Amino acid sequence: MKKRKIVIIGAGVAGLSAALQAVSEGGEVVLVSSQPSERAQSVMAEGGINAAMDTKNENDSPEEHYKDTINAACGLADPNAVWNMTQAAPDIIRWLMDLGVQFNRSGFDEVDLRNFGGQKKKRTVFAQSDTGKQLTTALIDAVRKEEAAGNVKRLSHHSFQTLLLQGNVCLGCLIKDEYSSTVTELHSDAVIIASGGMHGLFGNTTGSLFNTGEVTAKLFRLGIPIANSEMIQYHPTTIECGGKRMLITEAVRAEGGKLFSLKNGKPYYFMQERYPELGDLTPRDITAREIWKERQNSEVFLDMTDIPDKVIAEKLSGIAADCMLYLHKDIRKEPVPVSPGIHYFMGGILVDEYHRTQINGLYAAGECCSQYHGANRLGGNSLLGAIYGGRIAAKYACSDECNIQKGQPIKADISDDSVTSDIQRLNQIMQNTLGVVRNEETLQKGLREIKEMSGSLALLGRAIIESAIARRESRGAHYREDYPLRNDRDYLKTTVARFDGDNIRILFENVPKRR
Ligand code: FUM
Repeated sequence: MKKRKIVIIGAGVAGLSAALQAVSEGGEVVLVSSQPSERAQSVMAEGGINAAMDTKNENDSPEEHYKDTINAACGLADPNAVWNMTQAAPDIIRWLMDLGVQFNRSGFDEVDLRNFGGQKKKRTVFAQSDTGKQLTTALIDAVRKEEAAGNVKRLSHHSFQTLLLQGNVCLGCLIKDEYSSTVTELHSDAVIIASGGMHGLFGNTTGSLFNTGEVTAKLFRLGIPIANSEMIQYHPTTIECGGKRMLITEAVRAEGGKLFSLKNGKPYYFMQERYPELGDLTPRDITAREIWKERQNSEVFLDMTDIPDKVIAEKLSGIAADCMLYLHKDIRKEPVPVSPGIHYFMGGILVDEYHRTQINGLYAAGECCSQYHGANRLGGNSLLGAIYGGRIAAKYACSDECNIQKGQPIKADISDDSVTSDIQRLNQIMQNTLGVVRNEETLQKGLREIKEMSGSLALLGRAIIESAIARRESRGAHYREDYPLRNDRDYLKTTVARFDGDNIRILFENVPKRR
């Protein structure tokens, strides 16, 4: 039987996992990325990956993992997809160990686990504070083996241009060699988008600015809907560093780091005071908002001085080294000032439980799609969602039937392939409009300003602002001071934004029911 040809756009952990799965399903893969995997944002993930391994004998289970994920997502995650992901998580960890990932161990053959925000049990598997780097390295090695066997072709420094379409069916895509500018048509049975979040649209995030959001923007312009795009995760503890945000992993709070502001000149441990149950490990949306509020009157600090030296050496050495290198601060001796920074996009390309988009033969996985995290993601679920999602997308890309007679594909229009005329201005509008706290006035101001800009990225930015305007309530990462309450009657729904060629339409669609 002829092998199915699968093109994957993006070579971080979602793309690499999709490639390995597609090969195991008998597929033949072309892995296209604007940067080599070694520079993917996945490498930057610090804290860990969640799975109910229960090596601490806390009676943890995938069901508990499911409940915590669904609760954090404030009702917007697809429950069936989350169920399947949390069930699969322990096997994914065992598979990663077989690939050679060196997770921290606490016993002879047991992975160590740490607490992460919003989780009632210790469930985050980690490799020091460099989990993403360890995972990516192991996945790259595995993909190289398949490359040597002729099952995968890797094309880095190539960018996605547009889709090859026949009606509602994707027959491949157009890519450009960034060095020679040569444009090539790739014909395939399926295309999987794994191009990461929209960090470049905002700038000043903890993520990689190579993840520009351009692929999502081009697909949106073609009419492919995005979902829950107003759900933007601010990580509570970041530090300004060279025009970007440096992440101080939540793991430091899991190991005893404490947040405080200054009240009458004295440390005030506001999270412990206001949220006695989970304290400094309260879910990120709430913690980020509390820090934002405190910062109206005082600087906020993260105190890591009580964490034992041994724990820093064995579990957090990357953070200690980064703080010394970039801030000239010894975290063993002094607290560091922190503030919330954009970290993750819960929303993105609309997909179903099997990662299918609304175009046949087109799939999306990883941070570029909306799926597992609803209105607020748990730390440690992004690497899991990317690996699991990449696998599911590849599985269905290799098995879904396409019943049309394939003819001559139409190249989708690339006449407007300018992403934006002024990225700095666009970044500024997005940052000013979609902060930790939003209101109608700033949202409308942002909308007026962005309407003056052209290009696909500006159109995507406009869709995000219009989604935030339409959701007149507060839920998870979307907090509106003019609508501070959650309103399940009207908004326990997925926000879907679609471009019809002239206008952006925002609709609220039912979240799938748990089977
Ligand atoms: O805090 C962190 O280490 C972040 C992890 C995550 O976003 O999953």
